[in-house]
This record gives sequence, C-alpha cells and structure tokens, in this order.
Amino acid sequence: MLTQKGIMSMTKFSGSQTEDKLHVALIMDGNGRWATRQGKARFQGHQAGASRVREIVEAAPDLNIGTLTLFAFSSDNWRRPRYEVDFLMGLFQSYLKNEIEKCIKNGIRLSIIGRRDRLQPQIIDLIEHAEEVTAAGQNLHLRVAVDYSSKEMILQAAKRLSQESNISMENFENLLTNSIYPWESSPDVDLLIRTGGEKRLSDFLLWECAYAELYFTPVMWPDFSSENFCEALGDFQKRERRFGQIPQNAVV
Ligand code: FPP
Repeated sequence: MLTQKGIMSMTKFSGSQTEDKLHVALIMDGNGRWATRQGKARFQGHQAGASRVREIVEAAPDLNIGTLTLFAFSSDNWRRPRYEVDFLMGLFQSYLKNEIEKCIKNGIRLSIIGRRDRLQPQIIDLIEHAEEVTAAGQNLHLRVAVDYSSKEMILQAAKRLSQESNISMENFENLLTNSIYPWESSPDVDLLIRTGGEKRLSDFLLWECAYAELYFTPVMWPDFSSENFCEALGDFQKRERRFGQIPQNAVV
C-alpha cells in the first residue's frame, strides 16, 4: 500500500498549473445506504459521514494536496425531505462552529462555494466569519460546496458574458470563477473521487474536471478511511496524464 511519505514525492505530469500540489475533489456519497444497511436512520449516516470529513481533511496536507473540494450539499439536494435538509444544514453549521479553531491551528484556509442567497442568515454569518479568520492558512485550501450546481454556475457566467464582445477562454474562466465566489481562484481538479459505487459527476465541478482523473470506489463515505484515501492517490499516481499530448514513451 502506498504510504503518505510515498505520496509526498508525487508531482504533476504536466499541465497549465504552476502549483505542485494537487487539487482533489470528493463526492461523499453513500451515507444513506450505509445507514440503511445497518438498520440505522439516514441522519446517522450523515453524522458518521461528518466524522470522516474530519479524518480526511486532517490527512490531506500530508498527501501533497493543496486544495480539497468537498461536495457537501448540491443544489438538487433541496429536493430531499425537509428533516434531512435541516439535519444536513445543522451538521454544516456545527462544522463551521467547531472546526474553525483546528483550521486556524493547522493552517487550513476554508472557503464555501455555491449559492448563498438560499442559506439561512446565521449560516451565512458563520461562513463569512470562518472564511475571514482562516484566510491566512497556507497548508491546505479546503473548499466546501454547499447549494452548489456547476450548470447553474456556468449559466450565471454565460449571462454576464452575453454583454461582452471579447470572449476568450480566459475571461470566460474568470467569470465562471467569479460567479462561484468573487475573490476565489478555482484550480483545475487533478483527481476526483466518488465514494458509494455510483459512477457519475452529478453536476459537480464540471468545468474544473475537464482533465481530472476519475476514481470511483464502492466504499460508502462513512467507511472511507484515510487508508482508502491513500489508495485512491496511489491509483492516481500510476495514471499517465497527457492533456491531449502523445505518451511520453511514444516512438515517433
Ligand atoms: C450523499 O450521500 C451525501 C450527502 C448529500 C451529504 C454529505 C454530507 C456529509 C458527508 C456530512 C456533512 C459535511 C460537512 C462538510 C460537515 P447520500 O445521502 O446521497 O447517500 P445515499 O446515496 O446512500 O442515499
């Protein structure tokens, strides 16, 4: 099994990013099924999932990860039963209250991406406070996606761009980034991991995943340990990223 030390020596194959550290995105799926299989209520699956979030976030800086983006609540998740939505928002609120000191201590910068206009005012206050007090963190940029939809974000950018005559890839990308979060940069994703056995992107970071390596595991999120996380990174390490170019060992 790949160790954390082994992973520290990983570098990117190539690409446009100058940063050496990786951007890993996580679709934390399977909380509900995990709970049902154990005869527990779905909220208990989310509770167990939140503990895994803490473990994975703690492991990330030692795994050469510079940015970790977690899909905590999609814009489509508003369609879930009210009590489940309320429970998830409560978990998120507790995370913002209880993890901030640890983030500051461990040099973790926290940002929340997604829409804010449908969140409760007390959650928005907590988000703003958390982002402000963790802004200087250098060890890891932790981004949590809440009320997030890639398609919506791209639509917002397109609306703004319709007033512009000079549309380049770069200014579209800037607008896209601005529509998620005005003062945030959004690096391309290197590795996207989805737990829970499904193999889809579910409207998550569609633009940023253009050249992401995809890793799907049947492990349900509440069971996804730091060892499983290392395994995923080990698999990523074996991939050859070509970004449209020919293989490095090609005979030409
Ligand atoms: C998907 O599993 C998971 C979610 C919609 C919520 C993810 C939330 C957490 C992991 C905990 C809170 C997060 C933070 C950052 C504090 P599902 O409910 O769709 O599972 P299922 O597919 O088995 O039903």
